[in-house]
Amino acid sequence: MDEKRNKLAVYPGTFDPLTNGHVDIIERGARLFDRIVVAILVNGEKDPLFAADERKELAVDVFSSFSNVEVETFDGLLVDYAARREADVIVRGLRAISDFEYEMQMALMNRRLNRMIETVFMMPDERYTYLSSRLVKEVYALGGTITGLVPEIVETRLASKIRRGG
Ligand code: PNS
Repeated sequence: MDEKRNKLAVYPGTFDPLTNGHVDIIERGARLFDRIVVAILVNGEKDPLFAADERKELAVDVFSSFSNVEVETFDGLLVDYAARREADVIVRGLRAISDFEYEMQMALMNRRLNRMIETVFMMPDERYTYLSSRLVKEVYALGGTITGLVPEIVETRLASKIRRGG
């Protein structure tokens, strides 16, 4: 890694939808690295609530005032995408010990696939340690409040997607 070159980080995920936990990690990444790309996996979940382009549109809106945050969709192997972008680092958030095993497996597999790209883990604010996109969708669908857990635009968009019960 050339020490003088700008450091580019890739923050990959499904982001179905973007939560304030993701936002927290992206803001930390934007302070730590010269540039950070939010890389949205197109075909990760079998039946995503938001299409990849919608997930992208939401993230673009949330980070419109950040000059060093970019949003893209990707498909295929993450390390191949990261190499195409000439990224130095893959950023992942670690919320709790329960995340660790899966994250370590992915980080070591990604290292085996491409030794040039390091995975860096960051912890979100403790307010978000229990937060996940899956729980947000479930709680919202069942009539629970998710205010403060997702950006406002995501909450508005959920309202147009999910008919609430509960
Ligand atoms: O938001 P998620 O579901 O935790 O993100 C998982 C993601 C997108 C980082 C992971 O599924 C991924 O990298 N998928 C791309 C395909 C790939 O490279 N698989 C091998 C990972 S070791």
